[in-house]
Amino acid sequence: MRLTPEQRAQFERDGYLFFPGHFSPEETKVLIDAVPDLYSRREAFNVREKGSDAVRTNFAAHLISEPFARLARHPRMVGPVSELFEEQVYMHQFKINGKMAFEGDVWQWHQDYGTWLNDDLMPTERAMNVAIFLDDVNEHNGPLMFIPGSHVKGVVEAKHDLTTTSYPLWTVDNDLIRQLVDRAGGKGHYDAAGRHVGGGIVSPKGPAGSMILFHSCLVHASGSNLSPFNRVAVYLSLCAVGNHIRRFKRPEYIAHRDFTPIEMLPDDCLLAPYPVEVPWKNGLPESALATSLEEIDTMAA
Ligand code: SIN
Ligand code: MN
Repeated sequence: MRLTPEQRAQFERDGYLFFPGHFSPEETKVLIDAVPDLYSRREAFNVREKGSDAVRTNFAAHLISEPFARLARHPRMVGPVSELFEEQVYMHQFKINGKMAFEGDVWQWHQDYGTWLNDDLMPTERAMNVAIFLDDVNEHNGPLMFIPGSHVKGVVEAKHDLTTTSYPLWTVDNDLIRQLVDRAGGKGHYDAAGRHVGGGIVSPKGPAGSMILFHSCLVHASGSNLSPFNRVAVYLSLCAVGNHIRRFKRPEYIAHRDFTPIEMLPDDCLLAPYPVEVPWKNGLPESALATSLEEIDTMAA
């Protein structure tokens, strides 16, 4: 898959690209059918919502479940990312966020690269977020919110929020969000046909199988899901190989330590049984929980 010059320019300008219906209903079904088994496990890799049994985020499914191991090597996902970086990539993080009907809690305003820098000592922004919808996303089930163009600011000030939700996050304060949204178009307006245009917050919505690529400095958030519709989505973070993390402060099931470039499978890999390794299928090894504050020797790594 080649990106057009218009898509590259759009990514530079807005900080994201949206590909509605990028994976077919048959391909998406293989993935969503594998989620209940993953979510049912009582393991550290399932983070549940505050005061609820609903899974907020599941980590490292690509090392546990074969369909997700194939998705992690899918050329329609990996291809455009390494094309944009002009370098091979490895998997830094792999999450399946539940945002379950009635229970899915908010994700406050944040940038992912802020966390990767502060916690993992990732040297530069050369890592990409990919979101793949496993359910239809509409205005009711907590769609992502982006501030277009906010990535050009680089890393903005953030504070470590350990209390609001069940997952700690470096979050951006409201004054700065107001400024960034104003700069991107404020509240926009309604045109003569009643369409909302030109606002400083956008929410890509579309059918299950849609994909978003978004810059690691793009400021984003999502509201809670009060609707009766689940909003399960995969978030993959792919890092340019030369930009690998330099510290293992977070456990390996959250921030990966295998910097081997991803080898892509053929385009039909979600529908055909190509062999893949799932080394953590029977549970996390002790090593996946270990952490260290030491900075790793960049020459040796
Ligand atoms: C994230 O920013 O990592 C998750 C946002 C969401 O699931 O809405
Ligand atoms: Mn994020």
